Amino acid sequence: MRTSVKAALHAEAPLDSILLQGWVRTRRDSKTFSFLEVNDGSCLKGIQVIADAALPDYAHIHQATTGASIEVRGQLVASKGQGQKWEVVASSFKILGEAPADYPLQKKGHTLEFLREIAHLRPRSNLFGAVFRVRSRLAYAIHQFFQDRGFVYVHAPIITASDCEGAGEMFRVTTIDPAQPPRGKDGAVDHTQDFFGKPTYLTVSGQLEAEVFACALSNCYTFGPTFRAENSNTSRHAAEFWMIEPEIAFCDLRGNMDLAEEFVKYLIRDVRTHCAEDVEFFSKFVDKELNARLDFVLEKPFQRVTYDEAVEILLQSGRSFEFPVVAGQNLQAEHERYLTEEHFKSPTTVYNYPKAIKPFYMRTNEDGRTVAAMDVLVPGIGEIIGGSQREERLEVLQENIRHHGMAEKDYWWYLDLRRYGSVPHAGFGLGFERMLMFVTGVGNIRDAIPFARTPGTAEF
Ligand code: 4AD
Ligand code: MG
Repeated sequence: MRTSVKAALHAEAPLDSILLQGWVRTRRDSKTFSFLEVNDGSCLKGIQVIADAALPDYAHIHQATTGASIEVRGQLVASKGQGQKWEVVASSFKILGEAPADYPLQKKGHTLEFLREIAHLRPRSNLFGAVFRVRSRLAYAIHQFFQDRGFVYVHAPIITASDCEGAGEMFRVTTIDPAQPPRGKDGAVDHTQDFFGKPTYLTVSGQLEAEVFACALSNCYTFGPTFRAENSNTSRHAAEFWMIEPEIAFCDLRGNMDLAEEFVKYLIRDVRTHCAEDVEFFSKFVDKELNARLDFVLEKPFQRVTYDEAVEILLQSGRSFEFPVVAGQNLQAEHERYLTEEHFKSPTTVYNYPKAIKPFYMRTNEDGRTVAAMDVLVPGIGEIIGGSQREERLEVLQENIRHHGMAEKDYWWYLDLRRYGSVPHAGFGLGFERMLMFVTGVGNIRDAIPFARTPGTAEF
């Protein structure tokens, strides 16, 4: 049976017989033996293998080049070398797949841009192995956090007819032949003849469906891919990204903010505990400030300011921002980062945004001018969470839908939640890749998702 490199490196005692399988990172030859470093992605480090020149297989050692796959049988023994506890003395080895000299991941510093072009091979690098191990753990921790608290996991549909955020950034889903679409009398494309009998899209958010379940099971969450056709080529936007959306019945904005804060802190603590070696690697090679920043977030309560207060702080800052701060308008990434990185120097929750700049479903505050919305901003990223208390009053919601130029009949089921046993409820969305960027220090969202989908890019 195969022993993973991780298990071998953490062995409690020597092993008389071990089978290792992995990829050669490096090889050094001397007259009488060769040293190989073999890694299988189970952990950051490779294990050292010693192949004696007297082995019958030794004639093939020249095939054990960087990137080649190899199977080694031998003994796990205490290492005499420095920096490692165990090494493997091979009794036999077999080259499974050669990697000729054009193997793109030769052991030298590659740029992140280059590695994106070989996204099919980059998981074999130290950095991406670590990023994707942490990604996996983070997903597990997210489920654990909610499951431990009695939240029910809901699978929201990927294909939908509703634009939750109302931003018109949806990818169309259709089986209509673009060259010969069926047309109605008025010449417009006739969507009644499309696959679903109406226009459909990839979802931008599972929230509306999560609300359905919260209004039945009380506490639930979604965790799945979401899609946005925003043509913003930034380091924090992807066209396909994963989002976690808890939805809590009998909850207001304050409870929502408390949960968001507890959640973010929990995830940081979990990753630090369970991916210590990988986080150490990030803090050495990706972001020297990482550990200090994570400590900071764990120790400090998040600052909470209203949108109005935030605007006042920005106007008083004396900063000349690229985009001027205008009361009543959306905060730009640079404004958000100023608040969290420079002014408060801590994660910051901004709440009570102007109603005019927010989607139809957010609850109107008593002032009639603002809604019970919140964004959580963190240093280095800006917005990591967006959420709100939902409008649970039928008439107010109907008015909002009309005001946003949406058709009430398209949201009949959403309105029914307010017709029958309506309850105050609230929720938020955490961008999974942004959270991963935050805990790893990785600066570009393209490096936090296995295969990035961004404007102009859908390779792999
Ligand atoms: O603020 P957003 O748009 O909120 C919603 O979609 C709500 N329906 C959530 C809810 O209340 N259930 O998105 C939530 C988070 C953002 O804070 C950000 O972290 C992430 O999703 N996000 C993106 N991440 C990567 N690429 C994009 N294009 C993103 N757009 C949003
Ligand atoms: Mg948002």
